[in-house]
Amino acid sequence: MATTGKAGAEAANAGGAPATLATVLVIHGPNLNLLGEREPEIYGRTRLSDIDRSLKQLGRELGLKVETFQSNSEGAIVDRIQRARGRVRALVINPAAYTHTSVAIRDAISACELPTVEVHLSNVYAREPFRHHSTIAGIVVGRIMGFGAEGYLLALRAASRLIAASRAPAGA
Ligand code: DQA
Repeated sequence: MATTGKAGAEAANAGGAPATLATVLVIHGPNLNLLGEREPEIYGRTRLSDIDRSLKQLGRELGLKVETFQSNSEGAIVDRIQRARGRVRALVINPAAYTHTSVAIRDAISACELPTVEVHLSNVYAREPFRHHSTIAGIVVGRIMGFGAEGYLLALRAASRLIAASRAPAGA
């Protein structure tokens, strides 16, 4: 695959106009606003605000604009995905408990045709059986789980690669 420095920067035009940054949307589902306090033995001690700060910092290094969004409401998450349609290049999402139940979030991702990376802080397969099913597993590009907060950074790197690959000339 051809690489051209910062993976997220849109190719400059022939006149060398400044590149605009591709945007990655990161969505955190219900109860993740409590990260750091909530069951730290499972989810770690890193707060959501620290995760978002790290994501934005890594985004700068990768040449990406990172937008973050957290909601405890399924409808608000669907609305946010719909708003991203056509203006965001990739989605990173931890749907939290909605992972296991939400057809609406799956349908929103499919409808918006966003290349998506699914993230979980914990290894859901090492936990209760009801956490083993993900409604979105079949429509995402890949899944990262079990690495705690670091998983979001791995997911952003994966999203960056997807964006760069989507720009590479055919056969590259
Ligand atoms: C989670 C796993 C889910 O089963 C759970 O409901 C969450 C967080 C994770 O990141 O490990 O809230 O998505």
